[in-house]
Amino acid sequence: MRRFTVAIDGPAAAGKGTIGRALAARFGFAHLDTGLLYRAVALKMLEAGGPLDAGHAARIARDLVPADIEALGLRRSEVTRESSRIAAIPKVRSALLDFQRSFSRRDGGAVLDGRDIATVIAPDAELKLYVTAEDDVRARRRLKELSNSGIHTTFGKVLADLRERDRRDQNRGLAALRRTDDAILLDTTELSIAQAVEEAAAAVNERFDAVR
Ligand code: DC
Repeated sequence: MRRFTVAIDGPAAAGKGTIGRALAARFGFAHLDTGLLYRAVALKMLEAGGPLDAGHAARIARDLVPADIEALGLRRSEVTRESSRIAAIPKVRSALLDFQRSFSRRDGGAVLDGRDIATVIAPDAELKLYVTAEDDVRARRRLKELSNSGIHTTFGKVLADLRERDRRDQNRGLAALRRTDDAILLDTTELSIAQAVEEAAAAVNERFDAVR
């Protein structure tokens, strides 16, 4: 099969990236964590030190190169917060559209995770997953991730940041996060990583059979 697109959407820290990476490794798909594109723009804006200017942000987005999504510091909390603000700028989103759309139709299959994959980037994806988990579970996981990478903060702060970001990502005027009717809901609240990956992989296999 030449083309097969898996679209993964959901709120922050629900496990989208982990599941996306695991599916890519298992099925030989290319993987794109689309949040890194917005983070890369946010990091460059912060480094430039200026105020949030839509035109400047859009130019940065248009000029991104692959190495930018591997930069150190993309997971820093101020970059995280800023990326959600940057992502609400229509010109930034449109500057990043073509790259994501062509990635989604690559030969050999692709898995993309983000907020607008099923709605905007790949509405005709063969498989759509909406990955979510309860707020406090997501906050606990994010806190652990942060502390593993040497960043010490509190549960309350992580939870508040996460809720604020979800609220912004779900309520912006353009490409807001929402679950499409044809997306399979994968609630990872009670699942281990291995269990969540198995459920997602089973959905891929089922769709393989259906489209073949
Ligand atoms: O998935 P993430 O936490 O790395 O994403 C960072 C921010 O980027 C998120 O708060 C919203 C934005 N984003 C988006 O608007 N659309 C996407 N497809 C992916 C991320």
